[in-house]
Amino acid sequence: MNEFAPIGGLDVAAIRAQFPILKETVHGKPLVFLDTAASAQRPSSVINAEVELYEKYYANIHRGVYKFSQDATTAYEKTRESVRAFIGAKHKRECIFVRGATEGINLVAQTWGRANLKEGDEILLTYLEHHSNIVPWQLVAEEKGATVKAVPVLEDGSLDMDAYRSMLNERTKMVAFTHVSNSIGTQTDAKEIIRLAHDAGALTLIDGCQAAPHLKIDVQDLDADFYAFSAHKMYGPTGIGVIYGKEALLDAMPPWQGGGDMISTVTFEKTTFNDLPHKFEAGTPNIAGGIGFDHAIEFMNEIGVERIAAHEADLLKYATEQLSAMNSVRLIGTAPKKGALISFVMEHAHPHDIGTILDQQGIAVRAGHHCAQPIMDNFSIPGTVRASFGVYNDRSDVDALVVGLKKVMDIFG
Ligand code: ALA
Repeated sequence: MNEFAPIGGLDVAAIRAQFPILKETVHGKPLVFLDTAASAQRPSSVINAEVELYEKYYANIHRGVYKFSQDATTAYEKTRESVRAFIGAKHKRECIFVRGATEGINLVAQTWGRANLKEGDEILLTYLEHHSNIVPWQLVAEEKGATVKAVPVLEDGSLDMDAYRSMLNERTKMVAFTHVSNSIGTQTDAKEIIRLAHDAGALTLIDGCQAAPHLKIDVQDLDADFYAFSAHKMYGPTGIGVIYGKEALLDAMPPWQGGGDMISTVTFEKTTFNDLPHKFEAGTPNIAGGIGFDHAIEFMNEIGVERIAAHEADLLKYATEQLSAMNSVRLIGTAPKKGALISFVMEHAHPHDIGTILDQQGIAVRAGHHCAQPIMDNFSIPGTVRASFGVYNDRSDVDALVVGLKKVMDIFG
């Protein structure tokens, strides 16, 4: 048996057949899609769910007494229960629908942060963070006189846990960190980071964008205070995501955006606010996205998150072996625990040039700083090429990448 035989016996051909876009060609070549970390492709079930809503029962939700409104509300709220079960939350009212993880992190920074941070407080981030888990904290820190600090990484891109322990102190009020780095793939020891933060009296927010599509998440087991993720990286629609928060924290936080649905009563003298989760969901939401999201969760559940994780771990191992064997390729991020992506640089070739040459061969990768400039600075590089995997990839995609990179080597020497 091949050392890299698929684990869990996934029928990748059958999975691929559910994704219409994977039949497309690019520049006359079959599409090799290796950019799932930026946004996954969608199976027909997700696409059809949105079409069906618009064709058969579309109406605004939470507002109408008529059938279509009630049916759309039921379908949208069913997703909330699926999300709750998917992340192991205690109550579905702890799962707030937002535009995506970025909005979820901003929500916490602007509500919990503005209400609780004061001069001298510290917010602890890590060098692994995406800009969306840096800038919201900088904005609120500047307003409140708090300080943002970042835990460094070791040479292989693992988080420096000794540094983390030494940076925690009585001024630390929030530890906000990624579960899996979007740029170099490091998987953090979220449970231990949260335990240490809580021991120091700090709360935690986990950016789970690159974890939720690939790992079994259990927010209660992690004891996460807040956990953010986006549907579009989980084979779901764009413009919908979740910020999970513990009920007591969400209850105590002031609302964020004001408008319809988030109120209980409104007079010009005083407004009272709706209960969770609606308190944080002002205005008409992404109804179609929310309904499509349920089908994305169903798609993942039907395969099984653990099987998806095992399949992608196998692909990562294979890709790591193949790319390590190429002389002019240098892997960036070689932590022992990684998510489903591989980041690298090549001698003499800029990441954007590599991405462009690969595109000519039908291979889609992301090239650049991946909205994570601090970690690029840490490695003294302007950017990397990143190949990221989804459940629809197999070893032939890695083989195609290797062939593509040989072409880059031929051109750049
Ligand atoms: N955050 C997304 C990425 O890593 C867009 O590419």
